[in-house]
Amino acid sequence: MEILHTVAELREWSRLERNDGGNTIGLVPTMGALHEGHASLIRAAVHSVGFVAVSIFVNPTQFGPNEDFSRYPRTFDADCALAKAAGADVVFAPSVEELYPNGASTFVEVERLSDRLDGKSRPGHFRGVATVVAKLFIAAEPDRAFFGQKDAAQVAVLRRMVLDLRLATEIIVCPIVREPDGLALSSRNIYLSAQEREWALTLSRTVRQAEALFASGERRAARITQAARITFAEMPQIQVDYIALVDWANLEPIEIATPGSLFAVAAWVGKTRLIDNAILE
Ligand code: PAJ
Repeated sequence: MEILHTVAELREWSRLERNDGGNTIGLVPTMGALHEGHASLIRAAVHSVGFVAVSIFVNPTQFGPNEDFSRYPRTFDADCALAKAAGADVVFAPSVEELYPNGASTFVEVERLSDRLDGKSRPGHFRGVATVVAKLFIAAEPDRAFFGQKDAAQVAVLRRMVLDLRLATEIIVCPIVREPDGLALSSRNIYLSAQEREWALTLSRTVRQAEALFASGERRAARITQAARITFAEMPQIQVDYIALVDWANLEPIEIATPGSLFAVAAWVGKTRLIDNAILE
């Protein structure tokens, strides 16, 4: 497995593999602190394309001024071992200066969608995500890029970006990987104390509840979100950020849920903000 640090190297690698090798290229964008959720994306990519690059970059522009950019876990050597074991061909690990040359002033703004769900509580977050993912797509020119349903609003924003910019990359969405007790894997779970880890299960509980209500025939969004509100109210130790039932394509609230609707929650467990969701089937 190769480790590349510059955009020029990544572009050259991708072009060589595609043009001379006749391979399709897959990209798995990450911020590192890799876990089994990331590994599942890498394995999905390995099954789907000829060559797989994993990017590891803690992207400063998607963090708010009071967020955890500086203390975000950085575990580069372990990340490379995990990426290699999952079958990655290349790790792309640029510096901040490499992706944001001094004086960088070009950003990708996906209007409207970027102000909903996580974008509402984290102003500027999706602008940073769209910008860095556009840079990665332009550099690697992947045929397919792999994202987790875990960040469902991020997927909606990036699908819109790919459509609007007519990018040639297909977005593939992979299922949420969970701990045996239901907690969605997240690089931020390591911030949780044992007690908080218990409280955090409330998120996946509300997600299962919404799925069960939908499966039993409930279609009224207000009823489904109300059930979640009650479950959160029983756990005053954690603070709800949002409970939402939306159209996954545009993140607009809906009144009547249909198959494919997105039920999503975000909550603060101590100082840690966690998210979870389900696509209702
Ligand atoms: P990061 O949080 O590292 O996540 C990288 C990818 O892993 C995302 O597509 C995310 O949805 C997926 N992922 C995380 N936890 C998962 C889980 N439990 N199951 C399945 N997939 C999971 O998302 C980002 O980084 C950044 O915003 C990024 C897209 C890299 C842009 O900086």
